[in-house]
Formats: sequence, C-alpha cells, structure tokens
Amino acid sequence: MSNLKLVNLVRSRLFGTLRSPYDRPWAERVTLVTGGNSGIGRAFVEKLVMANAKVIACGRNQDALQELQREHPEVEAIPCNIAERADVLALAESIETRHGKLDVLINNAAIMEQVDLLDDSVSDDRIAYEIAVNLVGTILLTRRFLQLLRSSDCPMIIMITSGYALLPATRAPTYSASKAGLRSFTLALRRQLTGVGIRVIEVLPPLVDTPATRAVQRPKMSADALVDRVLRDIDRGRDEILPGQVGLLPLMMRLAPKYIARRVAGT
Ligand SMILES: NC(=O)c1ccc[n+]([C@@H]2O[C@H](COP(=O)([O-])OP(=O)(O)OC[C@H]3O[C@@H](n4cnc5c(N)ncnc54)[C@H](OP(=O)(O)O)[C@@H]3O)[C@@H](O)[C@H]2O)c1
Repeated sequence: MSNLKLVNLVRSRLFGTLRSPYDRPWAERVTLVTGGNSGIGRAFVEKLVMANAKVIACGRNQDALQELQREHPEVEAIPCNIAERADVLALAESIETRHGKLDVLINNAAIMEQVDLLDDSVSDDRIAYEIAVNLVGTILLTRRFLQLLRSSDCPMIIMITSGYALLPATRAPTYSASKAGLRSFTLALRRQLTGVGIRVIEVLPPLVDTPATRAVQRPKMSADALVDRVLRDIDRGRDEILPGQVGLLPLMMRLAPKYIARRVAGT
C-alpha cells in the first residue's frame, strides 16, 4: 500500500469525513490536458469543465483545437507539439504568465503506430517519432512543469499509459515499448516526488472507443466511462487505476502468465 493510501485510510478511519487538500473538488484547479482535443483527452476536458476546473488543452491539430474552443469557450486551447521543445517551453510560459501555477498535469497525448518490423517500407523516422512523442516528449514535458506544479498546494500528475505497458501487442511493438517505458518512468517519478508532495497517478486504459481505435472491431469502453472511473478512483486515493479488463491482468499474469501473454499479444 502506498504512503498516500495508508494516510488516507488512517485519516478516514480516525476522522471520518475530514478532508485533505487532495480531496478537494476540481473547481478552480488549473489543469493541463495534453491531447485534449480528441478521444480520452477530450473526455477529460469536458468532465473537468463541468466540474469548474480551469482547463488548458493542447494538441497539434488546429481545427480540432478551434472546435473544442467553440464548444467550450472557457477552455484555453493551445497548439503544442509535445515532441517540440520550443512548443513545450512556450506552453509552460503561457501557463505561468496566466496562472502562476499548475495544479494537475494530465499526460494523455500519444500516437499508436502499427509496425511490422520486417516491412522495409516502415521508416525508422516513423518509429523514432512515435517514441519521441509517447516517451521522450512526455518525460521532458513532465520535467518542464515540475516547478509550476510545486507552486500548487495539492499538485497531481496523471499519466495515461496502457494495458500494453504490462504486456505487449504484437501489432504495436514500439507503442507497447513506449508505454512500458512510461510506466517505468512513472513508478520512479512517484518515488522521487513523494518528498515534495506531488501525487503521481497512473491510468492503464483498456481498449477505449476513440478516433484512434475506430478500425478495431472489439468491445470498447467509452471515453466518458473511463474518465468517470478515473476521477472516482482518484477521489478514493488510488494511484494505479486499471479499468475494465486491464484490472484482471496482474492476477492473470501470476496465475497463467503464458496464456495471458498470448491473449494480449494477439489483440
Ligand atoms: N483508445 C484506446 O484504446 C487506448 C488504450 C490504452 C491507452 N490509450 C492512451 O490514451 C491516450 C489517448 O488516446 P486516444 O485513444 O484518445 O487517442 P486519440 O483520439 O488519437 O487522441 C490522441 C491525442 O493526442 C494528441 N497528440 C498526439 N501526438 C501529439 C503531439 N506530438 N503533441 C501534442 N498532442 C499530440 C492528439 O492531438 P493532435 O493530433 O492534434 O496532436 C490527440 O488529441 C493515449 O496516451 C493512448 O496511448 C488509449
């Protein structure tokens, strides 16, 4: 059990409804959602707007950002490629100037390439870019925002990895590797930040219905249901959130490791 969970458990047993800063509602919390203009990121943006958070959404696609802003004028929609250092620096400067702090960073932006490594038509650049966005970009953006997060009285980082961080999919070897790498980074980051009070949460989604999975014909969780589950689990003090079928993976990996690795590999 993590220290935070232990503290929450003891606190709730001793004081019942007494609340810590982490229990605060989302209202007024300055929240950055990377990739907030589509899919899961957009569902986070919409739920947090409803909860009266101050939401900043970033992404590359200007049309999608403008559409988001049209529908939710209160959202700050900022163009930013998280793999571009200059974009990330400009984003951090804009948030510091307007808000002077960041309460919640939701690292959601990513791309998923289906890569056949034996196919010479797949360029090294395509694979390198996927890793530059999902792993390097996310890590460096997180690092860039640590000081602004420290200006908050209840800061939080939410890392969206994947069930494929636990077991890889054969069709997406480099995506799976990037997410396993991000999970490893998240575990170490949580330990490094314990002393400074930044809570680090990891979400490992199952297959979710978004533009990225349009072509996949299997049962999918809705992005709204995923975000509802995440927000509920955060309120309950959970730092690792494994929604839907991903919740079964840790047990299956102990009981029947070869079987479950084969099953996930083929998804
Ligand atoms: N859908 C699933 O089944 C599933 C399962 C497990 C984990 N996940 C994870 O959930 C997250 C969201 O996925 P999704 O399904 O919602 O995909 P999506 O609809 O394709 O959304 C991805 C978002 O990331 C943004 N993005 C991509 N590259 C970026 C870059 N270089 N800089 C800034 N923003 C960038 C995209 O915006 P622009 O194109 O405008 O840049 C878009 O807003 C990802 O981390 C994904 O790995 C998804």
